[in-house]
Amino acid sequence: MADSPLIPFIATITDIVDETGDVKTFKMVFDDPGVMEKFNNKPGQVAQISVFGTGEATISITSSPTRQGMLEFSVKKVGKLTEVLHQLEKGSKVGIRGPYGNHFPYHDMQGKDLLFIGGGIGLAPLRSLIDFVLDESNRDQYGKVTILYGARSMDDLCFKQDLFERWCRLPDTEVFTTIDGPEDAWTGHVGFVPAYLEEIAPTPKNKIAITCGPPIMIKFVLQALEKMGYTDEQVITTLELKMKCGIGKCGRCNIGSKFVCTDGPVFRLDQIKEMPPEY
Ligand SMILES: Cc1cc2nc3c(=O)[nH]c(=O)nc-3n(C[C@H](O)[C@H](O)[C@H](O)COP(=O)(O)OP(=O)(O)OC[C@H]3O[C@@H](n4cnc5c(N)ncnc54)[C@H](O)[C@@H]3O)c2cc1C
Ligand code: FES
Repeated sequence: MADSPLIPFIATITDIVDETGDVKTFKMVFDDPGVMEKFNNKPGQVAQISVFGTGEATISITSSPTRQGMLEFSVKKVGKLTEVLHQLEKGSKVGIRGPYGNHFPYHDMQGKDLLFIGGGIGLAPLRSLIDFVLDESNRDQYGKVTILYGARSMDDLCFKQDLFERWCRLPDTEVFTTIDGPEDAWTGHVGFVPAYLEEIAPTPKNKIAITCGPPIMIKFVLQALEKMGYTDEQVITTLELKMKCGIGKCGRCNIGSKFVCTDGPVFRLDQIKEMPPEY
């Protein structure tokens, strides 16, 4: 890695997929091929992406480390940096530093069934673990994979190709999708993610639930899981707190004695319950 952890490595945007009107997935490749080898990211980790002349933003690495030689980031246009990033084209240069944070405890998940519950752009961090687990080299170490994903509308569904063409066709893998309200062209489920979860009612037996999405969705998903008998140790989520340095130095992201950038962003529900009440 670089001499200073705060200096980004230069990367080139090699592909851009328009996921929705305000979300794009950027494929990025380090200009120095040796950097990728040392980068060594794990599912659930984040990176600081810099757009030169504008600044940096924390973005989850959405590609699985099993997809080698590149990184993917799915970015929602919400403000200054993300807006400028959305204007970049293939071939543009950006900076990447990381990987930062802990990762999904994929070793502890071995032998278990996995239930992924995502909403909106919240599928981005989950996708790195889903693709890791579903990769041929890892698949026999995990049980059944269930993916429940919801978005506001059809247009707001991210990763359509993964959901409707890839994951749903894999053995021992089920995909449920829903949108908030009815639309003429939509023949699938309509309704909010937590209600759909209760309808599907996946048994907690030998299962780990991993959820990520807007705070309101997470709140009701956690209630639904509790009602269905999931213990706090069986539920994993991620916390999003504005980050700056990413390395536990600036004090921007702490929750009590924990730093989201180094202790998180992945936490088990029992760990979150030990945090100050505002989280
Ligand atoms: C651990 C972690 C993982 C993340 N992963 C992703 C990802 O995969 N894809 C993605 O698009 N974004 C992700 N984010 C959020 C992303 O970092 C911010 O949205 C981004 O920094 C906004 O930059 P900006 O300069 O464009 O917006 P700003 O101008 O900084 O903000 C624009 C608006 O967005 C709000 N905002 C900024 N940051 C956040 C935040 N963290 N949570 C909620 N609201 C915020 C601001 O309050 C403001 O209203 C992640 C954040 C964290 C902490
Ligand atoms: S981002 Fe600086 S301490 Fe966490």
